[in-house]
Amino acid sequence: MSWRSDREHWGLGIRLLHWLTAFLVLGQWLLGLYMTSLGPEALAEKFVLYQRHKSLGLVVFALTLVRLVWRASEPARPDLPPTVPVWQRRAAAATHALLYLLLLAMPITGFLAAAASPLGIPTLLFGVIPIPHPIGPDARLEALLLAAHRTQGWILAALLAVHTAAALKHHLIDRDGVLLRMVRGR
Ligand code: HEM
Ligand code: HEM
Repeated sequence: MSWRSDREHWGLGIRLLHWLTAFLVLGQWLLGLYMTSLGPEALAEKFVLYQRHKSLGLVVFALTLVRLVWRASEPARPDLPPTVPVWQRRAAAATHALLYLLLLAMPITGFLAAAASPLGIPTLLFGVIPIPHPIGPDARLEALLLAAHRTQGWILAALLAVHTAAALKHHLIDRDGVLLRMVRGR
């Protein structure tokens, strides 16, 4: 089992980063919806969950940077099977590029929104490491950034629905091993 990808296999590095990110992003999504639904009667819980959401989102950002550098440094990666038509190859490449973009953009809008909040709550990674805010309180900017963050969340959800449906189609209908090679590498 190799850490690096080649023409036939996804390496362990990419597979770990893929599934860890998938797990975290799903969690972030559910956490985002849940924490925003809490009312003033659950203020303490709401505060804790917002801080956790901020920290985990910054972890997604860091993992995505590592993943893009790792990916770029690999000499080869498996191609889709020859049976896959050109339009599906293009659709897959476009979906993946947009997913990477959102994995970076969502933490950026979320972080800047938190920084622009007039509440002025500092960002402490897991309550320990301070992450300096590049901008100060600005209610109008905060509202804009939060609207962007929410819109990005829905676009991400739509892309993931397509992505997951495509992976399941490869597995259940085409039976071409595309899903299994992201799980087992082969
Ligand atoms: C938050 C969730 C997810 C994100 C952000 C995500 C993102 C990505 C990205 C960016 C790639 C492209 C890899 C590359 O070429 O660099 C990829 C590949 C892949 N993903 Fe996901 N993914 C997610 C969830 C899932 C799920 C739930 C499944 C399966 C049910 C899945 C199955 C696959 C497969 C099979 C590939 C490899 C495609 C190939 O071999 O060309 N992903 N994913
Ligand atoms: C992959 C990363 C992330 C995902 C998938 C994500 C997803 C979400 C979702 C689904 C919501 C609920 C939106 C709504 O309907 O109101 C939300 C809210 C929020 N997120 Fe994120 N988020 C991510 C990263 C971050 C980061 C890094 C921060 C800050 C450092 C952040 C800050 C916030 C804030 C402050 C809200 C509350 C918005 C409000 O009060 O209306 N997010 N996020």
